[in-house]
Amino acid sequence: MNISGNTILVTGGTSGIGRALAVALHEKGNTVIVAGRRESLLQEIRDTYPGMHAVQVDMANLQALDAFAKQVTKDFPQLNVLINNAGIAKHEDYKADTVDLDIPTSTIQTNITGVVHLSALLLPHLRAQQQSTLMVTTSGLAFVPYPKGPIYGATKAFLHSWLEAIRVQLRGTNVEVLELAPPYVQTELGGPHQANDPRAMPLDEYTREVVEILENNTIDKGEVLVERVKPMRFAEREGRYDQVLEMLANM
Ligand SMILES: NC(=O)c1ccc[n+]([C@@H]2O[C@H](COP(=O)([O-])OP(=O)(O)OC[C@H]3O[C@@H](n4cnc5c(N)ncnc54)[C@H](OP(=O)(O)O)[C@@H]3O)[C@@H](O)[C@H]2O)c1
Repeated sequence: MNISGNTILVTGGTSGIGRALAVALHEKGNTVIVAGRRESLLQEIRDTYPGMHAVQVDMANLQALDAFAKQVTKDFPQLNVLINNAGIAKHEDYKADTVDLDIPTSTIQTNITGVVHLSALLLPHLRAQQQSTLMVTTSGLAFVPYPKGPIYGATKAFLHSWLEAIRVQLRGTNVEVLELAPPYVQTELGGPHQANDPRAMPLDEYTREVVEILENNTIDKGEVLVERVKPMRFAEREGRYDQVLEMLANM
């Protein structure tokens, strides 16, 4: 994708990676619309970054997504980039006598069903643009399972496989399909402690490297990979899969 001149919708744009990327892309000369549930943060973004737009959406509410997609394309007819980044992550205990099934249900709704629906709803609009991009945030955990959050890692593995398949379907169209697979990054995804966890990549460093990759188009096979995620991304290929799985089990 070109680094400027786009109209970009970033879901999960109220905090963390989505927000940082949205601000960086706004500063690079794009029209950026962030979406999320927390209205207070949406308003704060409108107030802090003049020119940025913010729209409320709940990705787990499939009925609302249809109206949301119609409204966004009506308000922003130039929309040509969807960054489908919203996601949740929770630990699960399958040794418990009663496994909390709300976690898999809500995680699948948000991380998979919402992403697939919004992409499908916006693809006809994206295909009608001269040049467009569908980017979805997966994770290094798409490539090695996360024993403490089995459903979370599985939703990201699902998205990886789904993206590889639709990239082939969309060959020859003007829609580029990108996968953004972050390493462990300092956000509040796993709780407030994560934002200061020294084992996680600082958010500003991550955002800078991603923008550089997009700007220089150093993207291999549609995957936007910073250096820190490569040990996980290529663990199996490089014969370190079991070792990385054990490391994750002890995190
Ligand atoms: N941080 C990491 O270590 C890491 C690593 C690999 C992948 N990722 C992925 O990166 C993406 C962003 O996560 P993050 O680390 O930046 O964490 P974050 O700060 O918690 O961001 C998650 C974003 O998703 C939004 N969201 C969650 N549920 C939603 C829903 N039902 N409807 C609409 N928006 C929803 C949140 O906004 P609202 O709460 O306002 O709705 C928030 O903006 C996720 O897909 C995550 O899986 C993160």
